Amino acid sequence: MIFLVFFLISEVISTEIYIQGSMKCNLNSNFQAKLQLLEKDLIYSTSDSIKLKELGEKASHVSHNFSIKGTFEGGDGLFDTEYEPLLVIYHNCMDTPGSWGNIVRSFKAVPISAQSANFTGLTFKLDNRRDVPPNKYSHY
Ligand SMILES: *[C@@H]1O[C@H](CO)[C@@H](O)[C@H](O)[C@H]1NC(C)=O
Ligand SMILES: *[C@@H]1O[C@H](CO)[C@@H](O)[C@H](O)[C@H]1NC(C)=O
Repeated sequence: MIFLVFFLISEVISTEIYIQGSMKCNLNSNFQAKLQLLEKDLIYSTSDSIKLKELGEKASHVSHNFSIKGTFEGGDGLFDTEYEPLLVIYHNCMDTPGSWGNIVRSFKAVPISAQSANFTGLTFKLDNRRDVPPNKYSHY
């Protein structure tokens, strides 16, 4: 009985979060993009990086499917019962050569007791979009 209780409280609770969508650039002949999945921490106003994904070089004027999956675990903070997923798309679909833009998209909070959550069918137009200063997520 004691062993059973120990097993239950030491079990790591985790949640698989899957995000799928498409992106399009209408400016350059080619562009590059990277994805970052983060967990927004509202209490400390920081964000923990969960997953990084390089998408490499992509052609403009066509839609590109993307997906990213990450495991959120350990709860979000002492008093939090939900995860706040955040997706950042870094891209150089910019009029100024050599500059990078970004798209920051937050999602509906996911209860830490959920086994999984899926956010699909998103569409993003990259063209010159820069939601936050380039160095906001400096740990990337
Ligand atoms: C993109 O993903 C969606 C959803 O999985 C799928 O229906 C669609 O056919 C995909 N498009 C391409 C071009 O792969
Ligand atoms: C998310 O998708 C996975 C894989 O298709 C599926 O196993 C899981 O049940 C889905 N979760 C929800 C909450 O829809």
